[in-house]
Amino acid sequence: MPSSPHNRRVLIDRDRIAARVAQLGLTITTDLRAAHADAPDQRLVLIPIMTGALIFTADLIRHIPLRMSIRPVTISSYPGTSTTSQGATIVGGAGTSGVPTDLAGTHVLIVDDILDSGRTLGLLKRVILAQRPASVRIAVLLNKNKPNGRDEDVTIDYAGFDIADEFVIGYGLDFDGVFRNLPEIEVLG
Ligand code: IMP
Ligand code: MG
Repeated sequence: MPSSPHNRRVLIDRDRIAARVAQLGLTITTDLRAAHADAPDQRLVLIPIMTGALIFTADLIRHIPLRMSIRPVTISSYPGTSTTSQGATIVGGAGTSGVPTDLAGTHVLIVDDILDSGRTLGLLKRVILAQRPASVRIAVLLNKNKPNGRDEDVTIDYAGFDIADEFVIGYGLDFDGVFRNLPEIEVLG
């Protein structure tokens, strides 16, 4: 692991993460099985936001035993060493806008690592809703409390943990491109 000039402390250890991810998977499975009851062959479209949602998604989907396709998109809002959102931009994925364009009538589950300013999930949800899917749900591992409110209000359907307004790393979350492979979630002070 690269050394760092920052202070670090563990916020959520790997056992708590694993237990909570399993619970979320169970709840999501129950809800989406009900949503698909009238069309059991239809697949859930899972849209993870890269790169932060990579590890959460990999663990979560193994607790969701439903037919699904996985259609990642890349949205960037924290370039380089910034620790506050610089505004969300869709930078990659399937289709010309970076977002799948065949979502009409499908049940969609967006997965992200963390809800912070709300710009990333707000942008993606708007782009997806414009295609008239059957439903759009959002799952995040972390819900960052913002005492002064978010830039964009986003309704989250599933959240693993509520955390304070601090910059966190690990389990997919980076600072300047590193630390994503830490097995625990740590606060970078
Ligand atoms: P938002 O658009 O401000 O809600 O930010 C969401 C995105 O910013 C997430 O997908 C993360 O990739 C990144 N992000 C937000 N807060 C943190 C943090 O504390 N650590 C690392 N990345 C973060
Ligand atoms: Mg992200």
